[in-house]
Amino acid sequence: MEDDEENTASPSTSSVQLPQMTTISRHTFGIPGPTSDAFSINIIENIEEEYGMFVWPCSVVLAEYVWQQRSRFSGKSVLELGAGTSLPGLVAAKVGSDVTLSDDSSRLEVVLDNMRRVCDLNKLNCKIIGLTWGEWEAPIFNLHPKIVLGADVLYDSKDFDSLFTTVTFLLQKSPGSVFITSYHNRSGHHLIEYLMVKWSLKCTKLLDAFSFMPSSKSSTLTGNIQLVELMLDDQQS
Ligand SMILES: C[S@@+](CC[C@H](N)C(=O)[O-])C[C@H]1O[C@@H](n2cnc3c(N)ncnc32)[C@H](O)[C@@H]1O
Repeated sequence: MEDDEENTASPSTSSVQLPQMTTISRHTFGIPGPTSDAFSINIIENIEEEYGMFVWPCSVVLAEYVWQQRSRFSGKSVLELGAGTSLPGLVAAKVGSDVTLSDDSSRLEVVLDNMRRVCDLNKLNCKIIGLTWGEWEAPIFNLHPKIVLGADVLYDSKDFDSLFTTVTFLLQKSPGSVFITSYHNRSGHHLIEYLMVKWSLKCTKLLDAFSFMPSSKSSTLTGNIQLVELMLDDQQS
């Protein structure tokens, strides 16, 4: 969690019905000023829940990357996988992408409902769908994202095959599309090399989070977070 944190009694949240144990964190992009295009996104987090109800550090990193690359995101169709509290997808929506937020279909009531509340809170219009990695539910066949986002979705190796089944299916459907993911680097570059070989991907960018995060945000990050852009190996970058 970063920056200001308010509790449910905050007047700024009065239009949103919030469950108990809920906080709102504010995330700012750019440097505020009269002529600046800076903005803030407010995220509803629930400290009682697990996984999809926190803003994980990888999400802060990926959201900042989207902001810094905003001209590239404007007008693009973007899908966020395992979006949870959805900060990167919401930043993409704010800079003009056509955004679909997704998470595990079995978590409809908790995570997907929270996504709706967060979109309302930020006055952003995103599509919200259940999309479980490796499963062939109807919504996936209607998606043609140019950019697929995933923050902290590479944390459990037992899910890698199902995640990359979904990712490569989406990349095949939209020629030239890219998967951008931020993750805790626990194995040097071995994980990315392994995924590239196994799934016939190529890496078009590999960044250390500290190389592009503003110091105000990097000082709150712990661990070694990296960001990688992956494409199908047979396509032009
Ligand atoms: C560590 S959390 C990261 C959440 C968010 N992206 C962030 O960085 O703040 C992992 C997310 O992946 C989702 N997830 C886990 N397994 C999944 C699956 N099999 N299919 C779809 N989503 C899944 C979880 O519900 C959760 O939202």
